Amino acid sequence: MTQSPDNRIILRAEKLTKIFRSGEEEVVVFADLNFEIRRGELVTLVGESGAGKTTLLHLLAGLDTPTRGGVYFLGQRLSEFGAEGRAAYRNQQVGYVWQMHYLLPEFSALENVMLPQLMGGRRFAAARARARELLAEVELAKVVRRRVGELSGGEQQRVALARALANQPAVLLADEPTGNLDQRTAGRVIEVLEGLHRAHGLTSVLATHNLELAQRAQRTLRLSDGTLTETVVPEVH
Ligand SMILES: Nc1ncnc2c1ncn2[C@@H]1O[C@H](COP(=O)(O)OP(=O)(O)OP(=O)(O)O)[C@@H](O)[C@H]1O
Ligand SMILES: [Mg+2]
Repeated sequence: MTQSPDNRIILRAEKLTKIFRSGEEEVVVFADLNFEIRRGELVTLVGESGAGKTTLLHLLAGLDTPTRGGVYFLGQRLSEFGAEGRAAYRNQQVGYVWQMHYLLPEFSALENVMLPQLMGGRRFAAARARARELLAEVELAKVVRRRVGELSGGEQQRVALARALANQPAVLLADEPTGNLDQRTAGRVIEVLEGLHRAHGLTSVLATHNLELAQRAQRTLRLSDGTLTETVVPEVH
């Protein structure tokens, strides 16, 4: 038996349009985007600065609402989730790595990874155990007690990855997670991300300026002039 095609499509955008208005001015970031993200895919999202990568990730995460069109998670339109459903979607189904990592610098790595779990209702001991496990997975077992503000940029991004996975999300959205890192450190963060993607059976969308990095993915979505084009690298057999 094959799975029904719908079940394999975890995220879908239909006629997705975002227009920002400030006073008289209108910025049409993109219009009528249609695309599907299938379960287990790692897709990269590229485009020049201002092309709309962050805007698109925010819409996929339910952090912002489209002007027209919609985002569907497993066939359900996010705009129909209601406030509670949307909060649960953001906390439980989506792991988000911000362009600026937004960790709490005064708190330890461990506390940063525990926080979203406690907010989601997990008990303290369980949250701590999972946070330790995830931090070990991103090779930060030795610094779990260190304040995040004292960690290096690459280490902070690995904490951010661990935090994004704290609540076992189905989807990982990462916005330029290597933006401020040197090439070597960036490469390391991406290896960790790819490892987590596989080990946790994630569906991941990774926005990046770094073309070399983008080309490692099988599928690349490119935003430019408000439209989306797609490149698929054929699998080598
Ligand atoms: N809240 C907002 N109000 C008005 N315009 C906005 C707002 N947020 C983003 N924009 C505009 O939307 C466009 C897309 O911005 P976005 O941040 O999505 O680009 P990006 O591709 O992530 O860029 P970068 O690579 O620099 O991070 C830009 O022209 C930006 O100025
Ligand atoms: Mg951005």
